[in-house]
Amino acid sequence: MTVTEEILSLKKEKDAIILAHYYVPPEVQKIADYIGDSFYLSKVAASTDAKVLVFCGVSFMGESAKILNPDKTVLMPDAEADCPMAHMADIEKIKELRSRYEDLAVVCYINSTAELKSHSDVCVTSANALKIVKALPNRHILFIPDENLGRYIASLVPEKHFIFNDGRCPVHAKVTADAVKREKEAHPEAELLVHPECVPEVLALADYIGSTSGIIQYATKSDSASFIICTEEGVLHELKEQNPTKIFYMAEDSFRCPDMKKITLEKVLAVLKDGSDPVEVDPGLADASMPPLKRMLELSK
Ligand code: 13P
Ligand code: SF4
Repeated sequence: MTVTEEILSLKKEKDAIILAHYYVPPEVQKIADYIGDSFYLSKVAASTDAKVLVFCGVSFMGESAKILNPDKTVLMPDAEADCPMAHMADIEKIKELRSRYEDLAVVCYINSTAELKSHSDVCVTSANALKIVKALPNRHILFIPDENLGRYIASLVPEKHFIFNDGRCPVHAKVTADAVKREKEAHPEAELLVHPECVPEVLALADYIGSTSGIIQYATKSDSASFIICTEEGVLHELKEQNPTKIFYMAEDSFRCPDMKKITLEKVLAVLKDGSDPVEVDPGLADASMPPLKRMLELSK
């Protein structure tokens, strides 16, 4: 049997589903039951009947899936695959700001540790942050951990007062406006589609700003023949699947998340075979971090 055949047969035998983020390698996306952005995958994780969830992504994704499904087994093909931004906020700072602003909502990007979620009022993803922030009654918003996504949402909700955090995605934030301008000059006919984790100077050049799913949907619906893609290169797989005649240029040559690329077919097979290292979240921490996740799912309906 090939690795793929073994995965498919074990999946049935163990009543498992495979969830994959658009940033994992194409061969892993191909064997997944559900491929999507962080929001879509969290909804799938919250509603599945399967006994076992194999989460092909980084640790905050598996951790959130386990928090939403304490009784299910959640397996991560590589426990070391972690999002550096998930750790980039300080709990003491959150407490200090809460004592300063009575009416403070701590809005936590889902790319965060369970510990940070447990000190937050609501979680968001790049696909639902605008809707959720607008729906909150609070005027003061502390947005953690991504400063770039926070500043983008703040620009769309000028009636609220935002406090930003010193955190960012190292993969998206390193792309400069100069690099993007060069790509636009080389392909003036192409539309520029940008993920909101990029810096404001890059967002200012965009024809469209949105989550990975948003970018794929926009390119699919657009009449344009070519696009410059300013997010992790893993989205190219689905973009090309859905748009075989359209042309996609990357805004930067090595637009790659090293942690997402740790997920391989062999590692998916290994966790399915031996069920090793299921994701565990301390029950107290799980109880404290579930409400902001549930509130996100409620408010984004
Ligand atoms: P989305 O899946 O919300 O587009 O976010 C991208 C990301 O960086 C996930 O780690
Ligand atoms: Fe984290 Fe950035 Fe990788 Fe997404 S692309 S997992 S935000 S490091």
